[in-house]
Amino acid sequence: MSAALFNPRFQGARCVSCRREWMPNDIPFTCPDCGSLLGTIDFIYDFQKSKPRPPATILHRDLWDWKDFLPIEPPESVRLLRVGATPLISADTLASDIGVRRVWLKDDRLNPSGSLKDRASIVALAHAIGINAQIIAAASTGNAASSLATLAASCGMPTVLFVPETAPEAKLAQLLLHGARVIRIKGAYDDAFELCAKVCQKHGWYSRNTATNPFLTEGKKTVILESVHQIGEAPDVVFVPVGDGCILGAVHKGLCDLQAAGLIERMPRLIGVQAQGAAPLVNAREGTLPVQTENIETFADSIRVGLPRDQVKALRAVKETGGAWIAVSDDAIRRAMILLAQKSGIFAEPAGAAAMAGLIEARQKELVREEESALVLVTGHGLKDVKGAMSAAPLAPDAVEPTIEAVEKVIDF
Ligand SMILES: Cc1ncc(COP(=O)(O)O)c(C=O)c1O
Ligand SMILES: [Zn+2]
Repeated sequence: MSAALFNPRFQGARCVSCRREWMPNDIPFTCPDCGSLLGTIDFIYDFQKSKPRPPATILHRDLWDWKDFLPIEPPESVRLLRVGATPLISADTLASDIGVRRVWLKDDRLNPSGSLKDRASIVALAHAIGINAQIIAAASTGNAASSLATLAASCGMPTVLFVPETAPEAKLAQLLLHGARVIRIKGAYDDAFELCAKVCQKHGWYSRNTATNPFLTEGKKTVILESVHQIGEAPDVVFVPVGDGCILGAVHKGLCDLQAAGLIERMPRLIGVQAQGAAPLVNAREGTLPVQTENIETFADSIRVGLPRDQVKALRAVKETGGAWIAVSDDAIRRAMILLAQKSGIFAEPAGAAAMAGLIEARQKELVREEESALVLVTGHGLKDVKGAMSAAPLAPDAVEPTIEAVEKVIDF
């Protein structure tokens, strides 16, 4: 990759476990000594020599406006669709219902493919284009794949996507319509992940597999850079839905970068929210890695993960910020979907509402105090999983005759 494409503040990378370091030009995707699970990589910046600048205005163009915090300069071809610069909503009714001072919802449904994953895909694509990769591949529970299919199509990069055969239909429709080569795996996401990693290695394809590509963390961290900028300060607590733990690790990385750049003074507490039926990180015992759970089950398909690939960064995020881990039941997620839909007009997919379920649970357990402010990440659009939404929604009414009398019989107000 041409050095001209690097941000001059970008200094290199460090293994999260053994702390070995690399210069920008020879960074591996994971540490060869520690392996792909424990040897995930942190990117390092020097914000002292030249101060990074946040965008001048709140309403900016896209996540590349944060280029001072990103490793590479984007080629113009990755800016066809707007990724990032999503709205932040002050949900005052929800805040008073839940009993906290403020609730902010970061509405990342409004990325081009309908999920936060677009932030990672676009930075991976910029890197792949920069190193002249010919094919980009990923394994995914659905959203990373639909994100990559969408954005790769926007910049003309061929894509191969490995998904579990149970991926929701709308997500599959996105892949197929955008022209990706789709490999449906008879197995779970974890099987798709292993297979994709092997095929990428064998054929020299660029891998956008979560956690094992550090450029993804850099893309995802822009969600918190934007949120803090939109709020005007760091909130007290941040709620993040967790499957592999990449978003949570990235939120932590973004906050550490903001702190290093002198743009925030105090670190919010980070709360990782998992579904009760797929909660390896919630159940993790101190100091035992790798963390893994067999027989996982939840209707929140995007966080149905048995072996979290970004576990080192996710566990570190909660520990270093004095945060907490919370498991929420599928019914609590359904209630959060209804609350978001009816009290703020936000239609989220199950995983996209899990962080809200986490806030409600955390308030009940007094993990968040009345005078505190909470940022909740809404990570995926409800239209991506209509079956999941219908399982949360009230029952559809019986059809009535097309007459005024029939209508008046069924209305009760
Ligand atoms: C909508 C949504 N929310 C949350 C997550 C969890 O992210 P991570 O796997 O990085 O923990 C995902 C991952 O697929 C997702 O698609
Ligand atoms: Zn290492």
